[in-house]
Parts: sequence; C-alpha cells; structure tokens
Amino acid sequence: MTAIEKEYRIIPLHKRPDLIPDCCTLLNSEWPRSETARLKFLNVSCDEFPICLILINKEERVLGHCKVSLIPRLRHSCFIQSLIIDYQRRSQGLGSRLLRGAEEHVAKKGIKNVYLITKGQELFYLKNGYKTCDPFKASGINDVVYSSAAFTKAKLKEKSIQSCGPPPPPMPNYQMPKFYDLGVLTQRTHMVKRLSSQ
Ligand SMILES: CC(C)(COP(=O)(O)OP(=O)(O)OC[C@H]1O[C@@H](n2cnc3c(N)ncnc32)[C@H](O)[C@@H]1OP(=O)(O)O)[C@@H](O)C(=O)NCCC(=O)NCCS
Repeated sequence: MTAIEKEYRIIPLHKRPDLIPDCCTLLNSEWPRSETARLKFLNVSCDEFPICLILINKEERVLGHCKVSLIPRLRHSCFIQSLIIDYQRRSQGLGSRLLRGAEEHVAKKGIKNVYLITKGQELFYLKNGYKTCDPFKASGINDVVYSSAAFTKAKLKEKSIQSCGPPPPPMPNYQMPKFYDLGVLTQRTHMVKRLSSQ
C-alpha cells in the first residue's frame, strides 16, 4: 500500500451521511447551487447506481467527490460527473486517485466503459487513460446516451429544420471538422475509457 493509499480513503457518501454538508460545501466551491439542489443530487447515492464517492483524509475531511450513474441504454457503461478535488489539494495526485478508485469500484460491478463530459480538464483525463469519443447526451440523474449515428442524424435533422434555402458555399481552405471535433466546437469534450478486464 502506497503512502497516498494509507493517508486517504474512498468511501460511498451514503455510508457517511454526516459528511454530506461538507460534500455540499466542496461541490459549491466550484459549482454554486442551492442547498436543496445539492442535497437532491447527493441524496440519491446508494449501493448500486447512482453512487457518490468521496475521498477523505485521516482526519475525515472531505477532499474529493465524484458521482457515477448507469447509462440506461448502453450495456456495461457508466457516466462519471462532478469529479472535484478541494482547491488547496489539487495537483497532488488525488484527482487521479479518486478517479481510479471510482473505476475500480464500477469494474467490480461489471462496468466496462466509463464515459464523461468535460470542459477544460481534457489533459487530466487523457493522462488517466481516457480518449475522446463521439458526442453523446447525458442529462440529469437518469443519463441517456445516444449512439453516435442516432446523434448525428438528429443533429443533421435539427440543422436542416433550422436552415432555409441551400447551404452557403464552403469557405476557401475550410476543412470540415471530424465528428469527434464537435466537442471542441461546443467547448465540451466527450470522453470514454474502456476498463481492462481484471
Ligand atoms: C480535475 C481535478 C479533479 C484534477 O484533480 P487533481 O488532484 O488536481 O489531479 P492530479 O493531481 O491527480 O493530476 C493528474 C495529472 O493531470 C494533470 N492535471 C491535473 N489537472 C489538470 C488540468 N486542469 N490541466 C492539465 N493537466 C492537469 C496533472 O498535472 C497530473 O499530471 P502529472 O501526473 O503528469 O503531474 C481538479 O483539478 C479539480 O477538482 N478541478 C475542478 C473541478 C473540475 O473541473 N472537475 C472536472 C469536471 S469534468
């Protein structure tokens, strides 16, 4: 066991309801929400999915959080959101530790693919083995993921409804972005990691 593993533990939040207020404070330090909204988000944590995992230190201070939900229409797949490490404890390997802990947790439950959407933390996830993937839609607690083909079709349909008349000619030297670059255009990158079988 490494020093970092001895010093920090990853536990399901619902096993420690007394730490929910601290977890709210941590999340709100990055993404301010009302207490009601935060409690609704966190109180669904259960032994199966969705589950909120927290990283605590020896003094039981909440230093990190992430929530993992199942993706209903995609077998063996889950979605990680709201991964956060306390501002003062970043760049010390804790984010990677929590992410790995979450992956190990879901792997034990038969999950093979971990999806996420990020805006600005691409490098962190790339370093942790994630790759960009086709855009998918994930909303709310019951995240729904559309296959890339269905998504593309829906997007194209949406565009054709919005536009009237023939499309303008392409700009000189303009290269159509590849499908996976759409994430860059919308400032959100969709990523996936295929978990290796244990
Ligand atoms: C993203 C976050 C969880 C990373 O946690 P962390 O504890 O700082 O990450 P680690 O220390 O494990 O970093 C692992 C590697 O990623 C790199 N890294 C971490 N954050 C990075 C960033 N924002 N940009 C580029 N690289 C980053 C580190 O340099 C490190 O690389 P190294 O091992 O070669 O030094 C943390 O920055 C955070 O809470 N951010 C605010 C909330 C957020 O944006 N969450 C992501 C939602 S999608």
